[in-house]
Amino acid sequence: MKQALINNIEQTYKSLFNENPILVNSPGRINIIGEHTDYNDGFVLPAAIDKGIIAAIGKSDSSYCKILAYDVNEKFEFFTENTEPFLNGNWRNYILGVVGEIQKRGIKIPSFNLVFGGDIPNGAGLSSSAALENSVVFGLNELFNLGLKKEEMILISQQAEHNYVGVRCGIMDQYASMFGETNHALLLDCRTQKARSIKIDFKDYEIVLINTNVSHKLVDAEYNNRRSVCEKVASLLNIKALRDATLESLNILKTQLTEDEYQKALYVIQENERVLKAVKKIEENNIDELGILLFEAHEGVQYQFKVSCKELDFLVEKSKQNPNVIGARMMGGGFGGCTINIVKKDFIKDYTNEISIAYFKEFNKQCSTYFVKLSQGTHIINNIK
Ligand code: GLA
Repeated sequence: MKQALINNIEQTYKSLFNENPILVNSPGRINIIGEHTDYNDGFVLPAAIDKGIIAAIGKSDSSYCKILAYDVNEKFEFFTENTEPFLNGNWRNYILGVVGEIQKRGIKIPSFNLVFGGDIPNGAGLSSSAALENSVVFGLNELFNLGLKKEEMILISQQAEHNYVGVRCGIMDQYASMFGETNHALLLDCRTQKARSIKIDFKDYEIVLINTNVSHKLVDAEYNNRRSVCEKVASLLNIKALRDATLESLNILKTQLTEDEYQKALYVIQENERVLKAVKKIEENNIDELGILLFEAHEGVQYQFKVSCKELDFLVEKSKQNPNVIGARMMGGGFGGCTINIVKKDFIKDYTNEISIAYFKEFNKQCSTYFVKLSQGTHIINNIK
């Protein structure tokens, strides 16, 4: 499947531009636990996956860039002198953003050609956007010998998302996509932006992702609003970020907060604790208790942080009722996208069949199932230089 995608992207590039491109594989990510903690300087436990973006990139002999989004068969041409984002620019703004953010650092990008495509749908909560951003910055760095470190590249990707797409995201997605390791998750401290690799052996269990196929229209505004609430509480507490808050300090402030603000901040404190507990459980080989933490985390996003939706809640509830599922929660920014479920290997088929039927009955639409492997971060597949 992946090889076919790589071949298609490479062949398309060659037939359009008549030369061999550099090929970049930039993965999406899952997140085992730790949602909406990254922009609070907290902890997350993501992993890169064997699905994402393949980008073919090369120098252009014309004065402008020629881009093809293979999956949607849309073309786009631009001069690197003008990287203004478009209203409803979709995928274009990620590319303009990466080029623009590199150039803000005083590095001039010459024109280039790019063909990209992927095997994760947009809005699935698997960070196809971070995968695209990272593929472009990584490819440009290689193509023009920019000398950027991976640590800088992820900040460029993140800034592209803030300034060109309008989502004030944390660093989790770009970090996981760039630094992922095969069979490992990353315990990332989002304050220091340093991670510890955590080997996970799911033993008799496997991770199953179920996509609600719902994408919420106001998701960007809702996301930014959550971040603002967290920043407001942190500033009232006189701390840099909610990472530094404790239950005691929050309770002292309680009368100055609305119940909604209090619950959101409390969630962040508790979710940070859950991430650290989860790592302990993984290291003790206690996958069952890891699962319980996932269920608890979902209650947090459902009732306290309020970034879930009825479809996600339904899928998690169904998983909870199934004795062969030991943990489930919504994954990513929320308001749609996927749930992550830890399911007994022998019962995966029964589980996915049952849940698909139930989901269709309830919402009259299909959910989708994905299986993923924890994989290597952004890398070059073929170095032609
Ligand atoms: C999105 C953002 C991340 C993170 C998650 C929620 O994926 O891009 O930075 O905040 O939501 O955990």
